[in-house]
Formats: sequence, structure tokens, C-alpha cells
Amino acid sequence: MLEFDAVHVGYGRGVVLRGVSLAVPVDGVAAVLGHNGAGKSTLLRAAIGLLRPHSGTVRLDGDDITTLAPHHRVARGMAYVPQGQQCFPHLTTAENLQLVADGRPGGRAAVAEALDLFPVLGDLLGRRAGLLSGGQRQQLAIARALITRPRLLLLDEPTEGIQPSVVDEIERTILALARRGGMSVLLVEQHVGFALRAAQRYAVLAAGRVTSSGPGGTDAETAVRQALTV
Ligand SMILES: Nc1ncnc2c1ncn2[C@@H]1O[C@H](COP(=O)(O)OP(=O)(O)OP(=O)(O)O)[C@@H](O)[C@H]1O
Ligand SMILES: [Mg+2]
Repeated sequence: MLEFDAVHVGYGRGVVLRGVSLAVPVDGVAAVLGHNGAGKSTLLRAAIGLLRPHSGTVRLDGDDITTLAPHHRVARGMAYVPQGQQCFPHLTTAENLQLVADGRPGGRAAVAEALDLFPVLGDLLGRRAGLLSGGQRQQLAIARALITRPRLLLLDEPTEGIQPSVVDEIERTILALARRGGMSVLLVEQHVGFALRAAQRYAVLAAGRVTSSGPGGTDAETAVRQALTV
């Protein structure tokens, strides 16, 4: 559904990704793994259109979207959850959700659905997002993205810096969402086990290049761990 074909992209004239090709399967999960600084977040910024490739092509459903602005990509069903549990800290949980739902057909139902997926948020509706724990804020950030009912969800390290019990909860929800169908996920994740359990395809990035890729699943673990030690 989303394809990167030989994409070179970076910041200003600096190149970070050096000829990255990968594909997110329709209704499936593609996981991108790699060490700090490998270029994972850069890849997601290029996917949502915040960075424009120096060369190469990005396609959505076969259409060339390489130069399409981010809001047009969102209109085509893409949603992006950046790294670092980003929400509006001075707004309450309810307001953070409402902001996305307002004016959107089916917005109210979408908020209810998101609260079903992340029940903890239901008890925190009146609390400012800045006062939530990192795990709760991450769940809020994913819930906000889901209110747009995306066909393709871009998730940047959803379990980073979150205590293990909440990591399990977030993992379970993402796995359930992925298996429910109707949505593809491009998941950036450093937890190899979770990433491979979720993914039909994986790619390991190192210094801006794909150094290993293939079908996901736990069988890929040896290859991934080996690629990550190089
Ligand atoms: N806004 C920016 N301007 C210039 N260089 C940047 C910018 N953001 C990231 N970089 C550089 O691009 C490279 C890749 O960064 P990126 O954030 O994509 O890595 P990452 O794989 O997401 O790392 P992490 O696991 O730490 O999140 C790094 O060398 C980084 O310093
Ligand atoms: Mg990153």
C-alpha cells in the first residue's frame, strides 16, 4: 500500500536515508528496526511528507505521492504518531481527543471507539495531558491518530521509555488493531520481539541503508539480531 523506492532523503543538503526501498503490505504491518540514529524517524517523516526526498519515489496505492503535502496524505488516510508521546500538554485528555474529532463525520463514535481500545483514558478525561504518565500519553497519542480512522498508521517507537506493564498493554492493542484488518501499519520499534510478532515484513536500517529485510514473524529473529549487531 505504501512503497519506498530507492529513497534518498535528509535535512537540508545532508543525506540520512541512502536509497531505502520498502513496502507496507495492504492490511499488514511492516516493522522498521535499527539503532539510535539509523534514520527510522527520518523514514517516517518522509512517509508523511514532512521531508521531501532528494531522489527516489514514495507511492501510496500505486500513486506517486513523493511531493504530496502532509495534509493531502492525511486526507488520503495516513496518520502519524511521532516519537515521544506528543499531545497538547495544557489540554485535557478529552480535549486532546475532541480536537481531532470536531467537525469530522462520525467523530463522536470514533472517540468512543478509541476509548474502548484504551480504557485507561476513560478515567483520565478531565486530566491535562501534561500530567499523564508517559504510557498514558502514548496511548492518548495513538488514540488521537485512530480517531481519523486511518488506512495507514505510522507509529514511531510507541513503547519507547514506557514501563513494562504498559508496554504489554500498548503491544496488545497494536497487535489487536493490526489483526482487526482495514488498516496497515508502518511500525518503527526497537523491541525486536514485539516488532516481529506484529509484522508481516521487516527491515533493519543501519546508517540510512536497509541491511536486512524479509518476512516478519519470530523466525526472522536471528537474522534481525544479527543485522543489529553489525
Ligand atoms: N532535524 C534534523 N536536522 C538535522 N539532522 C537530523 C535531524 N533529525 C535527525 N537528524 C539526523 O538524522 C540521523 C537519523 O536520525 P533519526 O532521528 O531518523 O534516527 P532514529 O533511527 O529515529 O534514531 P532514534 O532511535 O534515536 O529515534 C541522525 O544522524 C540525526 O542526527
Ligand atoms: Mg527516532
